[in-house]
Amino acid sequence: MTNFSQSHKPSTLEDRIEQLFTNSYRHAERLHRSDLIGDIEKLWRVLTLERADSIASYFKNAGLRRAYMGYYMPLYAAKIALLLQRLAKEGSLPDFIEKPLRVLDLGSGPLVGVLASRLAFGPLKRAIAVDREIGPMRSGYEFLKPFLEEDEAQQIFLRRGNLGVPQSFDFQEPFDLVILSHVLNEFGSSSRFLPKKMSLILSAIKMLSDGGRMLIVEPGNRVCSRDLMALRDALFEETSVSILAPCTGIDQCPLLKNSTDWCHGELNWRRPAVCAKVDQIIGFDKSMLKYSYLLLSKKEQRPENDVENWRVVSGNMFHEGVVRRYVCTPCELLTLSQKESTTRSVLTPLVRGELITSSRFDERIQVLNEKAK
Ligand SMILES: C[S@@+](CC[C@H](N)C(=O)[O-])C[C@H]1O[C@@H](n2cnc3c(N)ncnc32)[C@H](O)[C@@H]1O
Repeated sequence: MTNFSQSHKPSTLEDRIEQLFTNSYRHAERLHRSDLIGDIEKLWRVLTLERADSIASYFKNAGLRRAYMGYYMPLYAAKIALLLQRLAKEGSLPDFIEKPLRVLDLGSGPLVGVLASRLAFGPLKRAIAVDREIGPMRSGYEFLKPFLEEDEAQQIFLRRGNLGVPQSFDFQEPFDLVILSHVLNEFGSSSRFLPKKMSLILSAIKMLSDGGRMLIVEPGNRVCSRDLMALRDALFEETSVSILAPCTGIDQCPLLKNSTDWCHGELNWRRPAVCAKVDQIIGFDKSMLKYSYLLLSKKEQRPENDVENWRVVSGNMFHEGVVRRYVCTPCELLTLSQKESTTRSVLTPLVRGELITSSRFDERIQVLNEKAK
């Protein structure tokens, strides 16, 4: 089988993602006789229209289980790996490329966070996956094991635990990366569930090494993103936590004021051939991946030059010959605007979620306070 590890074959992340999709899809084809594309479509219905709230329910069905392994597992791992790569480029993950990481994947399902860290940064020093369901973790391990050297395979541990009771996963060792991906929304939406999420995060953050990072990823839809924004504001009050991304200095997220806004990002990627084939047959559109996230650490001093870094938090808004984009600075929400007639558009190519440096804007860009219309 082709390997998607960094150590065996120097390649780009996009190449490794391509290989991961090919391998996962072939693996899934061998797991069951039914039509795999039909199973992926069924699983999509279960996840979106019927809003299945437990991985256990669809992992019990052999057809749906392998649909997850063949399509959703590589899709989610790719999204997290691309986000990790973006954060590394922004300078928010110091040293992650140089050393093998110790990873804690909470609510891991089929080891999606482990897989993503490995895709992004190569072989891991040690990984612990925690989930209340052992079946999906075993399925992930069974898929991953043939690609690992024996000593790395022996350093991946599966632990059953309840994230609602943080004492059940109180590991003493420090981790470079703690991942919580697509898990918090399973705790429930609205402020009622905030204390439970806070308790989980504050317990897990203690397990980080100095310089370690916690990445929380959630679907990029309005409900999940707004829940995450509210969580961010609550974490801002905590003395033991630093919020490193997507935003830093503001105490209250300005996008929370208006119920139709939500902070999320987009990743443009080279969609793997297998993914494009499935999407074309079923009618999905995964040409771009949406996400919302928080990157946290133990309390850290912020570098001075942070005030120059602005986060793009909207798409392009065209109105009466002007294009506008919203950006969050460490102090406030701003609107950038540029005449569409300007020869070179600076604003339109920006990707939602991208970090930009304010010094790159010249007199063609107007900067307005708040949400100018
Ligand atoms: C949607 S899956 C996400 C799996 C994987 N992290 C990903 O990004 O694809 C959510 C996972 O969280 C686990 N989970 C939800 N609540 C949990 C809890 N209280 N304790 C342990 N695991 C939990 C579920 O069993 C499931 O595997």
